[in-house]
Amino acid sequence: MNASTTCLFREAVPSVEDYCQLRQLAGLSAKSREAAERGLPNTVFGVCAYQGSELVAMGRIIGDGGCHLQVVDIAVLPRLQGQGLGKAVMQRLGDWMQANLPPTAYVSLLADGEAHRLYAQYGFALTAPASLGMYRRF
Ligand SMILES: CC(C)(COP(=O)(O)OP(=O)(O)OC[C@H]1O[C@@H](n2cnc3c(N)ncnc32)[C@H](O)[C@@H]1OP(=O)(O)O)[C@@H](O)C(=O)NCCC(=O)NCCS
Repeated sequence: MNASTTCLFREAVPSVEDYCQLRQLAGLSAKSREAAERGLPNTVFGVCAYQGSELVAMGRIIGDGGCHLQVVDIAVLPRLQGQGLGKAVMQRLGDWMQANLPPTAYVSLLADGEAHRLYAQYGFALTAPASLGMYRRF
């Protein structure tokens, strides 16, 4: 079954409410409303999938638009996971990157759990052992 055929895809950034809710429902770490209000307008490119008015999948590219970018917020509503929506979002982000980024751009992401199997299908390779991802929370 492929849920992406029943969804409307928009090249857009979700509303603050939809964004915070889908992150939470998909099991990603919570973002405050204030953080989302500040961060979402700085999106370089975003994709949203809707069933009716319900946001069911999303993905964003953030960064400086030329040299360094990151794929973030890849999330699908649990009841629709495993039905092709994650791939449909990644396909659209990949198409945009292919068409818009200079060849020297570096696009990174952090893959939780087994999600690296998804990203590998869209050209992403493990950074290790040459480079190790690092992070800091505030
Ligand atoms: C990860 C996620 C976005 C994938 O979206 P999805 O709609 O469930 O996945 P799809 O149906 O499009 O298929 C994903 C592909 O990756 C593969 N894959 C393997 N293990 C996987 C896993 N644990 N999670 C996702 N994909 C996996 C699938 O087999 C599939 O490829 P295939 O069709 O060739 O078999 C979704 O499951 C999700 O929102 N998970 C919770 C939030 C999360 O972990 N986000 C990613 C943070 S890095």
